[in-house]
Amino acid sequence: MLTVENIHVYYGAIHAIKGISFQVNEGEIVALIGANGAGKSTTLKTVSGIMHPRSGKITFLDEDITRTDGYKLPAKGLAQVPEGRRIFLQMTVMENLEMGAYIRKKPPQSDFDNVFTHFPRLKERRSQIAGTLSGGEQQMLAMGRALMSHPKLLMLDEPSMGLAPILVEEIFNIIQEFHAAGTTILLVEQNAEMALQVADRAYVLESGTIALSGTGKELAQSDEIKKAYLGG
Ligand SMILES: Nc1ncnc2c1ncn2[C@@H]1O[C@H](COP(=O)(O)OP(=O)(O)OP(=O)(O)O)[C@@H](O)[C@H]1O
Ligand SMILES: [Mg+2]
Repeated sequence: MLTVENIHVYYGAIHAIKGISFQVNEGEIVALIGANGAGKSTTLKTVSGIMHPRSGKITFLDEDITRTDGYKLPAKGLAQVPEGRRIFLQMTVMENLEMGAYIRKKPPQSDFDNVFTHFPRLKERRSQIAGTLSGGEQQMLAMGRALMSHPKLLMLDEPSMGLAPILVEEIFNIIQEFHAAGTTILLVEQNAEMALQVADRAYVLESGTIALSGTGKELAQSDEIKKAYLGG
């Protein structure tokens, strides 16, 4: 579904991504894990067209999207929930969800119902101003908003960031629900333990390169990973 081939990404003179390649097959959950500053968010921003690589190639559903502007990608089936959620704080829950469907003029009620099935809490709070939601509810809203565009590939950047353990569990359960409903997932996480539990395959990023890859199970059992990311 998604193929990333040898991309190099820069912020001015800073060489943030140094020739990484990976793929996501239809129906998979793939995780990108790695320490702070490894280049996880930069990778997602590059796939979602917010940044472009200086060299290398990105293919989504057999189409070269290496230089496609990000705003065109949701219509092709690619959606991203960015790091830090980036919901519209002054708008209500419903208005935020509508923004997620901007590629269609008027989303049908069934789209909202679909979001509310995954996130009953958002239904209760549908008229609330998004800026007054709790951190966990804001994450749910960001995920619900992405769902409104009917993504084939959903990319999530650190969905568990700043959430209490019980809510982390809930968010990961919902990711698995999305997946069971047919959405392919590319997941960026600091929480390597949770990410490797749900991922079919995973890649470990270190200083802008891929240091290791394998199935979620293999990596969860690797001594290197245990030492560096799973607390021994
Ligand atoms: N806007 C920017 N300008 C300059 N350098 C940047 C910018 N954004 C990121 N970088 C640098 O690029 C590298 C990769 O950053 P990135 O945000 O992709 O890491 P990350 O793996 O997502 O880290 P974290 O887990 O902390 O979110 C870092 O060295 C970072 O300092
Ligand atoms: Mg990041």
